[in-house]
Amino acid sequence: MIRLFVAISVPEILRQRLSGLRGQIPGARWVRPENLHLTLRFLGDVDEDAADDLDAALSRITAPRLQVALSGVGHFASRGQVRGLWAGVEPNDALEHLQTKVEITVQRAGMAPIGRRFHPHVTLARCNDTRVSRIDGFLAEHSGFRAPPFPVDAIDLYSSTLGREGAYYTREATYPLPD
Ligand code: 2AM
Repeated sequence: MIRLFVAISVPEILRQRLSGLRGQIPGARWVRPENLHLTLRFLGDVDEDAADDLDAALSRITAPRLQVALSGVGHFASRGQVRGLWAGVEPNDALEHLQTKVEITVQRAGMAPIGRRFHPHVTLARCNDTRVSRIDGFLAEHSGFRAPPFPVDAIDLYSSTLGREGAYYTREATYPLPD
């Protein structure tokens, strides 16, 4: 089995800026700079045949190249606890279109629908035991975060493995978007 997800890779200069948003938040595990990405579709654990099918399907995706601009910060929470801190994405029809194409493609390749709306973000930290009140300062400090748009000329298939220091991501394939 291999744990896979489809993502947009974030340029290094922008990953450095995102790393600058790290702060002192109890229970937060900050994502290593090289791991920062924008997930288009989490695929989960798939066997080798399914991975080959997904790769073949993704290699046939056609969607226009686009620009993505990161903007603002936010969080996911459940039951009063913060689960993740993220940088947001400016509203972007081209990105929605691309994600819809990816979704249709992976479903045609045999993946079950995910059943929740796409909420584009770049996860900055995952949190355990962090009350929502502990991130007020982080949210206020970085509410004005804005980065210049970056070009997206391809999407990537990543595998994820668990190491001692957390998840390691490996780029398994790149699918260029046509001109
Ligand atoms: P996240 O950034 O919001 O945590 C690799 O794990 C990527 O797949 C992460 O960016 C993660 O999103 C996303 N993902 C979505 N659903 C997931 C799940 N059930 N388990 C692990 N990762 C998931």
